[in-house]
Amino acid sequence: MPRVGVLLSGRGSNMQALVEQAAGYEVVLVASDRPEAGGLASAREAGLATFALSPKGIGKAAFEAALDDALREADVAVIALAGYMRLLSPAFVARWVGRILNIHPSLLPAYQGLDTHARALAAREREAGCSVHLVTDELDAGEVLGQTRVPIEPGDTAETLAARVLVAEHQLYPRVLKDFVHR
Ligand code: GAR
Repeated sequence: MPRVGVLLSGRGSNMQALVEQAAGYEVVLVASDRPEAGGLASAREAGLATFALSPKGIGKAAFEAALDDALREADVAVIALAGYMRLLSPAFVARWVGRILNIHPSLLPAYQGLDTHARALAAREREAGCSVHLVTDELDAGEVLGQTRVPIEPGDTAETLAARVLVAEHQLYPRVLKDFVHR
């Protein structure tokens, strides 16, 4: 069974979806750059192994070296970024090239980066969505492996749209990860 390490910075709802809907892969480690992340607490409650370390004070290179060690000790084959809000260095990405996935709350290549929903609304888009893609050195730019379209409703705010897209994320990510590990 392919072993997956999930990397997060926040509440971890995508991590929970990946764990709850795991089929054809196994989440063996949940790692974070924010020791106070809600997703880490959820992972511990679920009995999952966790890795928590802040780059503050030690620097990005030392943080990524420790993260890399933890992922290798856990014998991880694929890394799934799930609300990980830092850029991984080119050196780290090179070590895991082709084996890091990310979920992003837009229909890539549209709206890379932050504040995707507010920007889509400001541009009067009629649909939003989410994408799972391979991670490269460039922000939100690797091969798109799967997408779900979500209509924008009249009266939507960034918050209501984000909540609706998040439901789609929870359905998309486990399915794409399963297909990816078996492709
Ligand atoms: C999700 O909407 C995810 O797509 C987004 O952060 C949220 C994390 O929620 N990721 C990005 O914006 C990546 N640039 P979660 O912690 O509940 O999974």
